[in-house]
Amino acid sequence: MADVVRALSLSELRKRKSVKWRQFPDDVLPLPVAEMDFPSAPAIKAALLDLVERSDTGYLGPFPELFDAFANFSNLRWGWQPDVKQMRIATDVGVGIVELMRVLIKPGDKVMLNSPVYENIWRWILEVNATTVDTPLTEVDLTYKLDLAAIEKEYQSGVKVHILCHPHNPVGVIFDKQQLSSLAQLAKRYQVVILSDEIHAPLTYDPKTFTPFLAVSPEAKEVGIIITSASKSFNLAGLKCGFIVTESPKMWERITAMPPAVTWRASLFGAAASTAAYGLSSNWLDGLLKTLDENRKLVDHLIQSRLPAIKYRIPDFGYLAWLDMSNLGIGDDPAAKILEKGRLALNGGVLYGPKHKNFVRLNFGTSSEVITEAFNRIAKSL
Ligand SMILES: Cc1ncc(COP(=O)(O)O)c(C=O)c1O
Repeated sequence: MADVVRALSLSELRKRKSVKWRQFPDDVLPLPVAEMDFPSAPAIKAALLDLVERSDTGYLGPFPELFDAFANFSNLRWGWQPDVKQMRIATDVGVGIVELMRVLIKPGDKVMLNSPVYENIWRWILEVNATTVDTPLTEVDLTYKLDLAAIEKEYQSGVKVHILCHPHNPVGVIFDKQQLSSLAQLAKRYQVVILSDEIHAPLTYDPKTFTPFLAVSPEAKEVGIIITSASKSFNLAGLKCGFIVTESPKMWERITAMPPAVTWRASLFGAAASTAAYGLSSNWLDGLLKTLDENRKLVDHLIQSRLPAIKYRIPDFGYLAWLDMSNLGIGDDPAAKILEKGRLALNGGVLYGPKHKNFVRLNFGTSSEVITEAFNRIAKSL
């Protein structure tokens, strides 16, 4: 049985130097950026201390133990054993996806995303001067799905790459195997490469509901590339180490043109910490998920009991709550109003898609006290 992992106190958190705790003045409670407020897993601390104590602070070189640790983790959690010979380190997920696009497409080519979606996916497409094709998710009562008919239409019009957010931030859903398998068939028919960003996958509450894209079907292996890292689930974003996984020699061959610097620009600390995360910290992750599970339900309880005008669907993974504030009477930019009046920082929905200005994203990867205080502050903003 995993021990429950509890968040640090606010006074400890205020000493942190990461962006979450430096971006706003001290009277603001910061719950926007996807960092968590928990102590690191003991095996990760030990791996980092070991490097420091031995002054082993050079460049990152070959690091096969990371791939072995991920392959075992994936097998135990999702029943999928990826091929360690088709894995490659990238600085982080963002750099991995940008560099993949540089070898897969030319400027001006069409790249698909599905709004509302993690804001940097919009930026990565602009960074490579590609043309953004937004095919929004369909939605019923905050349950979102891929719109396969609309996706097929756009694929027909010449989309070259589709960035899939799987599981999907910020809406908190996991696409089922059936939808993903149909998507893979379409991608094969229209020769679209699917870049599957799976950074949130280890945070799935019921691991059986998540299928890594490359484990979906033979077609998915042909058209897909997974880009992932331990950074969201083990809070390692500052350590800079993501990786890319393929399952088809043809796709592996297509991406060999990526510059060696993509790997050189990752960090030894990131690789060692990620190895300790996947290899030695599953128990810690399960303890963390217990707290996050309580938190996702606490958010629901606070909404039902105090602010029932907010619409919320308990997410299937992670620590991000996607809140529809349309009926709250708080104006057109709820995040700005809540920051101004309640001194609570959230992400405004418009970051994720042009039609979502009435939404906010709240990060509940923290203590129950902070979450309760966040809802006090939302109430105060009304
Ligand atoms: C879906 C998704 N992809 C990528 C990232 C960022 O990953 P990285 O820091 O490795 O670029 C985030 C961060 O929140 C995310 O939510």
